[in-house]
Amino acid sequence: MTTSLDDVKLRIKSRVPLDQLIGETVTLVRRGTSLTACCPFHAEKSPSFHIYPDNHYYCFGCKETGDAITFVRKTREFSFIESLKFLAGKYGIDAPELDESDTLKRRRGEHAVLTQMMVAAQEFFVSELASPRGEESLEYLKNRGFSAENIIAFGFGLTPSEGFGLSKHLRALGFRDDDMSRASLSGMSAQSGRPYDFFRDRIMIPIRDIQGRVIAFGGRTITNDPAKYKNSGATPLFDKSGVLFGLHQSREAIKDKRRAIIVEGYMDTLALWQAGVREVVASMGTALTVRQLKLLSQQTKTPEAIVMFDGDNAGKQATLSAIEVVLEVPEIRVRAAKLNGGDDPDTFVRKNGADALREVLSNSVDLMDLAIGSKLSGINQAAIPSIVSNDFVPWLSKIPDQIKRGYLVTRISGLTGVPVEVILRQLHSFSFAPPPGARPDSAFAARLGVNPASKESLETPILMPSRALTPVEKGVLGHVYFAEAGEIEPGKVDSFMSKELALEPLWELFSRQVAQSYAQGHSPKNDPMVLAAFSPEEVAVLASLTEMAAASFETADRNKSIDTLITEQSRNNIKQSITLLKRQVQIAASQSPQDVPKFLAEVMALSQNLASLDRPI
Ligand code: UTP
Ligand code: MN
Repeated sequence: MTTSLDDVKLRIKSRVPLDQLIGETVTLVRRGTSLTACCPFHAEKSPSFHIYPDNHYYCFGCKETGDAITFVRKTREFSFIESLKFLAGKYGIDAPELDESDTLKRRRGEHAVLTQMMVAAQEFFVSELASPRGEESLEYLKNRGFSAENIIAFGFGLTPSEGFGLSKHLRALGFRDDDMSRASLSGMSAQSGRPYDFFRDRIMIPIRDIQGRVIAFGGRTITNDPAKYKNSGATPLFDKSGVLFGLHQSREAIKDKRRAIIVEGYMDTLALWQAGVREVVASMGTALTVRQLKLLSQQTKTPEAIVMFDGDNAGKQATLSAIEVVLEVPEIRVRAAKLNGGDDPDTFVRKNGADALREVLSNSVDLMDLAIGSKLSGINQAAIPSIVSNDFVPWLSKIPDQIKRGYLVTRISGLTGVPVEVILRQLHSFSFAPPPGARPDSAFAARLGVNPASKESLETPILMPSRALTPVEKGVLGHVYFAEAGEIEPGKVDSFMSKELALEPLWELFSRQVAQSYAQGHSPKNDPMVLAAFSPEEVAVLASLTEMAAASFETADRNKSIDTLITEQSRNNIKQSITLLKRQVQIAASQSPQDVPKFLAEVMALSQNLASLDRPI
């Protein structure tokens, strides 16, 4: 197997002009097919060193042999990699493989320095808190309910009050100013040109990666600074949107409990730990990100997460916004727990204890339900369609999992009364929406008799059924669509489809296309002209029949199946007429009694028809 390094080596060996390279050190004399020189590796007076056309050298005196790379290594005491780089640079040979390993090496080196610096900073903050200067802050933490053991275990620290204590300390340990600022521990003062501390007068909370290494800090003000928390900026070690605070400590508990509690704040996490609830992490602020949720899923495989944000309006809003994120990580089922009024998880657990908190958690509801409910609450009926298209359909379009999506479509349909087909259809046009200004499907325009280039055609609505097909409608349409040419007796269905079935416009059109294709001697399912009449969005709706139902239309006797369906439809029609007549009888009884016998006679006649339909032929 060749590695990328083998490739570079070969490339350099074949491209470096060995005579030029060696000619820089010794004088070359041509002799036959080879060039000769006094050997650069040992002292001699007559030349016994040869360079051959295949780019290798050999000395008959000291037996040294090799190629351009060995030559550079031996004459300059370079390492193998250094030699490759030197030659690639000198002769302009492309060697991206070397750059890559170089970048990686540099990055690893950089990380090592920053990681060491974070350790030093953490130790420094902790020692500040432990010093006499930390007394007040220690008191503050104890008043917030943290035990002395946990203050140590959680790694709380303190920044010194002068604005350069950490920078000074780190510099004394040999860390460089530019590394401090790259780690977001210091900034550069424009006036003095010296670094000053990024954090000042704050209780420090270490943020760790999944291995437990400190990668950033959150600092809570102890002087009522309007920025309650200050967090490390983005550094090579830290990208806030991809980190969950506390995950390193909570991972095992989350695996055990098969659930994670997601809170907003550092203090919420730490207070829950203190109260013995261990399966908790913080999003660090209100917006939960897709990367955070994916990280949680990867690291813990938890099937469930409970979002427990603050009880204030911002928290409620954030809970609902989390839906967008949650939909993109179907591996985790997310529920929402509701805190009342001014509480956050920290204040709640301190006031009411862990059991009360667990009670709140056990009353959590599915986040999707909550979001749907909140969108629909207090809304009048007329606004529902626009909520479905503007809110629910975009949500649905984000759910990658088909089964979950289908399930939600059904639920939303149930809650709103908007038929499943309509939601599916909107979902389809949403996911495959043509770019703005695009022409509508020309086949669609043509069949409506509209010139596709005209302005009106842009505004032509796409046909949308507002109800599902009845079993009979579905049956008859399906049998004609899936029939082989000649399989159905002539004249059996044509008038039935056009007169007896009260189809919606889209299905009406489909039924006509199918009947026409069949009448022309085709098998409609194999006739490209049938679906060509519809726009892609419409085809998606028709797919409920044309794709999924194929197997249910396999039959040995298609004509008999169709007869059964036609009879069924007649029966339904008669039943409907009887219902109507009975209602008329009731009305007539009070308003025009003389008409009652006439209506009753009709009911009798229809009932007999119905009975005769049920009699075997
Ligand atoms: P909160 O304002 O709810 O803070 O912000 P908290 O955790 O309850 O703080 P305490 O209890 O008053 O000490 C929640 C989280 O949002 C981020 C922090 O991660 C905080 O823990 N945040 C908040 C900031 O990053 N900066 C801020 O100024 C405020
Ligand atoms: Mn709080």
